[in-house]
Amino acid sequence: MSTLSVQNISVAFGGLRALRDVSFTVEPGQIFAIIGPNGAGKSTIFNAISRIYDVAGGAIRFGDRDLLTLRPDQVVQSGIARTFQNIELFEKATVLQNLLVGCHGRMQRNLLAEFLFLPAVRRGELAARRKVEEVLDLLDLQHLRSERVADLPYGARKNVELARALCAGPKLLLLDEPASGLNPEETTDMSFWLKDIKEELGVTILMVEHDMNLVGRTADRVLALANGEVVAEGTVAQVQADRRVQDAYLGGAA
Ligand SMILES: Nc1ncnc2c1ncn2[C@@H]1O[C@H](COP(=O)(O)OP(=O)(O)O)[C@@H](O)[C@H]1O
Ligand SMILES: [Mg+2]
Repeated sequence: MSTLSVQNISVAFGGLRALRDVSFTVEPGQIFAIIGPNGAGKSTIFNAISRIYDVAGGAIRFGDRDLLTLRPDQVVQSGIARTFQNIELFEKATVLQNLLVGCHGRMQRNLLAEFLFLPAVRRGELAARRKVEEVLDLLDLQHLRSERVADLPYGARKNVELARALCAGPKLLLLDEPASGLNPEETTDMSFWLKDIKEELGVTILMVEHDMNLVGRTADRVLALANGEVVAEGTVAQVQADRRVQDAYLGGAA
């Protein structure tokens, strides 16, 4: 069981401070939501955890690992998978093929062993197939398995991206706006899937989300950001009632 601990991180782009002294802790098994107006620094937090952006100060730990010493691929190997604000899939491949690619991050690759098709490789391949079937069942995607991603409507593509991240067998899933572009019915489906992922797979979820309906239905804890700084942290009700959060949104809209 690994706790994600973000301590006093700051990220700067030239003169712009995108994050200033941000701290929070995600306990194993939680759904933890980060909210805040556009440009608040939400995606920057994900890019800092994924080691895509450099952090100017502070610490990020996942279990006993210091993520700031790892490369992006090593962060994935440590059990952290993510989806992007804009869907990133192989459009011309089928749903099944996309999910099998998702599995490969977790399989030990060894070209000679693969060439000889040694038992260990065969076991890895079988485990990958089993994982893919489990995820197709969980997210109700079996009927789309042979469809080309490019032919699917937006909501289904979003779900496939979530499925692909799960195929890597993560302990922690980072979801950047899982409900963006979804209609209310699809958003409700997404809230059930997120709870299934948490409860049936035991995967911890850290998500950035604007849709307070989805946050209200799923999140155990909420962190509110504005202008790169933490404004409030607590339960959904506590954060929604916080005057500083309301002011931040009004300020953002003005
Ligand atoms: N790669 C980058 N280069 C320069 N500025 C960036 C970069 N990424 C983000 N920013 C800036 O950092 C701030 C926070 O961005 P972001 O984390 O994407 O906000 P959010 O996801 O909360 O909408 C914004 O002002 C944005 O323009
Ligand atoms: Mg963003």
